[in-house]
Parts: sequence; C-alpha cells; structure tokens
Amino acid sequence: MSNVYPPPEEFAKKAHVPSMDAYRELYRRAEQNPEAFWAEVAEREIHWFEKWSKVLEWDAPFAKWFVGAKTNISYNCLDRHITTHRKNKVAILWEGEPGEQRALTYLELHRLVCRFANVLQSRGYKAGDRAIIYMPMIPELPIAMLACTRLGIIHSVVFGGFSAEALKARIQDLGATVVITADGSYRRGKEVKLKAAVDEAVPECPTIQDVIVYQRTGSDTPMQIGRDHWWHELDANATEDCPALPLDSEHPMFVLYTSGTTGKPKGILHTTGGYITQVTAGMKWIFDLRDEDTYWCSADIGWITGHSYIVYGPLSAGTTSVMYEGSLDFPQFDRWWRIVEKYRVNVMYTSPTAIRALIRQGEHWPNAHDLSSLRLLGSVGEPINPAAWEWYHTVIGKSRCPIVDTWWQTENGSILITPLPGATPLKPGSATFPIPGIIPDIVDFNGNPVGPDREGYLIMRRPWPSMARTIWGDPERFKEQYWNKFPGSYFTGDAARRDADGYFWVLGRVDDVMNVSGHRLSTMEVESALVRHPAVAEAAVVGKPHEITGQAVCCFVTLKRGEWNHDELGKELRQWVAKEIGGFARPEEIRFSDALPKTRSGKIMRRLLREIVTTNTVAGDVTTLEDMSVVTRLAAQQDED
Ligand code: WTA
Repeated sequence: MSNVYPPPEEFAKKAHVPSMDAYRELYRRAEQNPEAFWAEVAEREIHWFEKWSKVLEWDAPFAKWFVGAKTNISYNCLDRHITTHRKNKVAILWEGEPGEQRALTYLELHRLVCRFANVLQSRGYKAGDRAIIYMPMIPELPIAMLACTRLGIIHSVVFGGFSAEALKARIQDLGATVVITADGSYRRGKEVKLKAAVDEAVPECPTIQDVIVYQRTGSDTPMQIGRDHWWHELDANATEDCPALPLDSEHPMFVLYTSGTTGKPKGILHTTGGYITQVTAGMKWIFDLRDEDTYWCSADIGWITGHSYIVYGPLSAGTTSVMYEGSLDFPQFDRWWRIVEKYRVNVMYTSPTAIRALIRQGEHWPNAHDLSSLRLLGSVGEPINPAAWEWYHTVIGKSRCPIVDTWWQTENGSILITPLPGATPLKPGSATFPIPGIIPDIVDFNGNPVGPDREGYLIMRRPWPSMARTIWGDPERFKEQYWNKFPGSYFTGDAARRDADGYFWVLGRVDDVMNVSGHRLSTMEVESALVRHPAVAEAAVVGKPHEITGQAVCCFVTLKRGEWNHDELGKELRQWVAKEIGGFARPEEIRFSDALPKTRSGKIMRRLLREIVTTNTVAGDVTTLEDMSVVTRLAAQQDED
C-alpha cells in the first residue's frame, strides 16, 4: 500500500481548484454538458476575433471545435498581454549552456516575433505553407514558432537530436518550403552543428526554397548562395508592424512527428482554437499558475511537452518562463539547482528520467542550493516509479510541494490525466484522475470495461478540444491506428489500471512503441534502420527496462553470410542507428542471434523477446511499475489480433 499525500493546507487555500469537492463539481459539469463547459472555458481563456456558431462538430473520428470562430495563437500569446500590466513582464528568461542570459519581456518578444513574421512574409510565405524548424533551445525557436502561427504558416519543429536522415524524411512528408535553423548549439560544452545536417538533408528535398540560419555559435558555416540566408541579415531590414491574422479555429497550426508502430513516423496535426483553449486552461488547473510565478519546464521544445508547456501554454497564460539551452550535468550536476536558485523558480516540470539520473548523483548537489522558492513540481513522459517520486518530493520539494504526475501524449495536445495540486490527494506513481471534460476508461480486448484493480487498455470515450485532428496526409492511418480498435473511442496504446479509489495507474505501452528517456521511438523505425546496414539480414527491436531511462533499445540481429567480428560490428551498428535516426535512439545493446522467433505467419514475436530482455534484468523498482508482464500479456493479445 503506498502512502497518500493530501494537498498541503497552505497550498490548497490559494489554489485555483482548492478541494476535491471543487474538482468533482467541475468534472460533473463538464461530463453533463461538455460543449457548454468547453465553450465557457474558451470564452474565459482566449481572445476570439469572431465567435463560433457551433462548439463541436463530431464526425467520428474527425472533430471540429469552435466551428466558424476566428482567433490567432500568436495574438493570444503576445498581443493581448502588451496592453496590460504584463507589457514589460519577462516572458522568457533564457540561459545558454555557456552561461549567457537573456530576459525577453512580452513587448520585446512581440517585437521580435513581428519582425521575423515580416521576414517570412517578405519571402513570400503565407497561411497554409509549411515550415520546418530545426533549432536549438534558444529564444529564436519560440520566436520562429510564434511568427509562423501569427501568419497561419504550419510549423513542424524537428528535435535538434534528430539526424539529417530523419530531418529529410520529415521535410519530404510535409512538403515544406522553408527550413529555419541555426549554425549550431552547445551541449555538454561542445558545439552541436545543426546547419550541417540541413545541408545534408535539403539537396533531396526539392520543395525547399529557403534556409534561414540564426547565428548562435558563430562557427564556420558554409552558406549556399540563393538558398541560405542569415537570420540577422534578413531581420535587419524587417519592419515591426505585423498584425496577427484572424485564422479559422480549425486552421492547421502545427505538425509534430512522433513514432508509431510502423517504420514511418506519423505527422500528428493540431489545429488552432481547441488546442490553445485547452492548453491555456491547464496552466491554471494543473500548474496553478499565478501572475507572480516563475515557471520552468525542462523539456526540449522539439517534443510535444515543449510545444504546449514551454511555448504556447505559458505564454498564452502570461507567465514568466525559464528556458535553458543545455544539459543538466554541465558543467556539473547542480546546474539545474543553480538555475532554480538563481531565478527563484516556483513551479518546475521535468521527466522521471532526469530525476533518476539526478538521484544517482546524490543529494549533495541539490542540497547545496536554496530551493525554497519551489512550490509545485511536475513530472511527464513516462511512469514515475514510487522511489523516484519520493526522492523528488522530499529532496527537491522538501515535502512541501505537491507533485503533478501528468499523463498525456503528442496526439492529445495537452495533459489529460493528472492531479490538480490544490485538490488531489497524491499516490506516488499514479497520474490520479482525468481533468474535467475527459472521460477515460479501461477496457479488455473486447472493449468491455474492466473492474477495479484489473489491467486493460486505456481509452478516451469523448473528443476533447486539443485532440489531434488527423495524421498529415494519411487520415486512414489516423482512423485505423487510434479509432478502429474500440469503435467510437480513442485508443491510447497504453495499458492502465484503476484502483479501488478510482486512481489511474498507467503501466506503459502495449504496442511496438518504446519510451526511452521519455522519448517515443518505434521498434520498427530502429529495425528499418538496422536492415539498411549491409551486414544485417533481419532485426527485431524491443524496449528493455532500464534503471535511468525507463526503457533502453535492445536489438536482436541476424547477419548475412560472412565473417563478422561481433564486437566491432556491434559498435558499428549502434553508431549506424544514431546516424540514421539520431543520437537519442542509439541502442543500448545489440545481440547477435542465428534466428528470430516468429509466428507461423512469419511475424516476429517481439513479445517473446521482450520477455527475454525483461526477465533477465534487474532494474530497480522501475520494473514494479512498468509491470512488463502485464504489458507483454496485453501486447500478446494484440499480436494475435
Ligand atoms: C507515456 C509525452 C505514464 C505513455 C507527453 C504515453 C506516461 C507516451 C506519462 C506519450 C505519465 C507520458 N505516466 N506514462 N505521466 N506521460 N507517458 O507522445 O506511454 O512523447 O503513451 O507524449 O508517454 O509520449 P509522447
């Protein structure tokens, strides 16, 4: 039986949602009349140029929210604040890895976004065009995003850790016409070159007209005349007047690629009005933000967490938000705690992987700093094991700060299952309850709800405003992947159980998606990369429990005829995958084998391999929560499907 932590009285007193009764009342209202509920939220939280004629049009699985309404996300993140007391409030407090600082106020950010939007406009880009943004964690990344949303240009941010190959595939799938990048970035004291990857990718992307390069490191960067332009040179001639375009509520806002169960990443499409409504509402409900708070989400903007909870949510809510470029251990393991102390961070949102990495380094790092400004902590991306939760709670939060363990996915747009910090009694390891308006259920293979304490598939019974609208260019896959298994409901791909008190415990993925350091990776994507290597005949990839990263990539490989030095080839293949996909996908382990276990129809039985890598590993108490046997059993049902 785990401990239960009620919200601290002091915290609850001032919270936006101050009690379980208040939460239940909100939830009940949303459940009884979801459309009226979301309309009220949209009206309160968002500026609309024109109101909707209908709240929801639901032609399952395709949703339209706030039909006919007009709004602009960049306007909501900037313009509406600069006529208030927030005009000279800091929007982004940035720290570079080498130690530089920039503090951009709402007015200043607005000015820079307008200038860059004018740069894009002057080069002929307009609403509906697609821009790829491949940038480090510097303020120009959100500036580029907000300039796009200002004009209705659909952006797709590609995480800087992705390789040239991965970048190319995304540019091609999207038919993007412009790439916005930087010369490089700093990571663990070294320069990571970004423009070099763009140079490798773009020659095979005939749709690209311009590459705009921000100068971050100043290192030697070859520029192709006609195609490549320095950001600062274009910006020098830009004007500052650039009204935000009133866009349809369903105007496509961004595409973010995520891994699915095939080798090809899925371009998840989010639109305008519903996304910004739900993301903004969550800033109050979940992070309990107030105007005087300094908030820090340590994710990378290249993933959905950074989109919703570094850029759009915090800015729309008028928050002061910290943004840090580099790695948590540079120059040493107290970098994050230095940042918390220096900027007096009040709310901090990070991942279980980071927490486990920090635990390993010892308490003396955080203990050397004054963390008394913190009042709320958050976790996202993977299940947090109770031991890591307890450490986060006592060593970082000094047993004072509630922890919001937030469950959601790229496809969801915003947090769906989470504690509300002033209301929910916490159980370490449980994401607790759905937010108002979200109706999750746990069902068996036939779609029948399972009882308390039974595992099953996590589904969502109703549409919500920030849900993905489709997969870019592939609505059939969208239907098939998420909506066909349990007709009328959204299938998350996760296993979960609900305890006797109704708390949700998310156990992990039941499909062929791995979760490495909170980053989604498809087993098939890694397999396809491996079989492109000339020595490899066949490959099967599974996630293996890992003490720090949650899961690690483990590959079973059969080789073509020939004499192979396994040690050397193992190293080479690990490097190969890093080059094909990105460094974060580098396999932990390559196991050579004569054959792979297959079903009679020739399908590789990954679940057997999963069992092999799970049962012969001891990985602390990560395994107890991820309960791989459950996931494996449920996945087996899917294999047989
Ligand atoms: C997992 C990240 C347990 C889950 C926002 C989901 C979690 C996948 C949690 C989505 C959590 C995320 N507890 N598991 N609090 N948060 N997950 O798309 O398996 O990168 O399906 O979105 O991460 O990963 P994605």
